[in-house]
Amino acid sequence: MEMTNQTTVTEFIFLGFPGIFYLRLTFFVMFLTVYLLSLMENTLIILTVVMEPTLQMPMYIFLGNLSFLEIWYTTVTVTKLLATCLLWGVTISVSGCITQYCFFFSMGATECILLAVMAYDQYLAIYNPLRYSLLMNTPVCLLFSAGSWIGGFIAPLLSTILISHLNFCGPQKINHFFCDSDPIFKLFCSDTFLVEALSCTCSSVVILSSFLLIMSSYGHIVVTLIRMSSQEAWRKAFSTCASHLTVVTIYYGTIIFAYVHPLAKYNFTIGKVVSVFYCVVTPLVNPLIYTLRNKDVKRAFRKFLAQKRLLMQGIWETN
Ligand SMILES: *[C@@H]1O[C@H](CO)[C@@H](O)[C@H](O)[C@H]1NC(C)=O
Repeated sequence: MEMTNQTTVTEFIFLGFPGIFYLRLTFFVMFLTVYLLSLMENTLIILTVVMEPTLQMPMYIFLGNLSFLEIWYTTVTVTKLLATCLLWGVTISVSGCITQYCFFFSMGATECILLAVMAYDQYLAIYNPLRYSLLMNTPVCLLFSAGSWIGGFIAPLLSTILISHLNFCGPQKINHFFCDSDPIFKLFCSDTFLVEALSCTCSSVVILSSFLLIMSSYGHIVVTLIRMSSQEAWRKAFSTCASHLTVVTIYYGTIIFAYVHPLAKYNFTIGKVVSVFYCVVTPLVNPLIYTLRNKDVKRAFRKFLAQKRLLMQGIWETN
């Protein structure tokens, strides 16, 4: 038996970011601020979308789902990230690590599909405004949003099952701040070719196909806009698309860099820095861009906050 002199690992230590304490303290404060901001922002968007009757439309239902997703997507990784900034030797059990892997990739895949659905929805609304409500009716909208979640959770299922049947030999240290695919694949006892190939293929298929869908939706939108005669509508729609494209490019740029690299050597330092973008920054920026460009959401926001203020005053005065 080859396995006898290898101890099986039951717990991992995250190495996180290196550096002196004050540098890591600065990181901690920075990440905590961004995390709390994105929690507040996304909660506010969900409450606004759910409470406001005028926002019961596909576009906003998708937006509400995106915000709900971003909360979990960032929470899955940021909690350990914050701990590793502040403390040495933050640990995670093997089952915790596999759970984190599974949730992180499920959320990531859901996000890719949902962003593609939102781009397609935009495309339908602009390309075919008259038939839009017919094409994107309530059942279709339900199907799309439920389908994003189901598809997202199915995508990493097989590689998660494979991983949970393999043994980890160590070293016990994970040179990252969460159980990302490449850092943990380095720690298996056995050959990881199959699981690496599977995981890379699944990620690439989800990422590239949703990216192509988004790009072709926006491509069609731009062509439609160029044909439009009204300058005002043109400018408005164009600036909306440009801002969506910016966030989509940041998100997809970083995840394509991180996950679509068959056979390339993984660089831990670059990997960690790039992960910060899609784990911490996009959950704050994404919903913000989709919301700030939108008059209806902003109006509903103000209404919602005013109601809250009235309610608080009422409670205050009765006491
Ligand atoms: C998410 O989508 C479902 C439809 O599948 C909808 O009922 C729900 O309200 C949405 N969630 C949010 C927070 O908007």
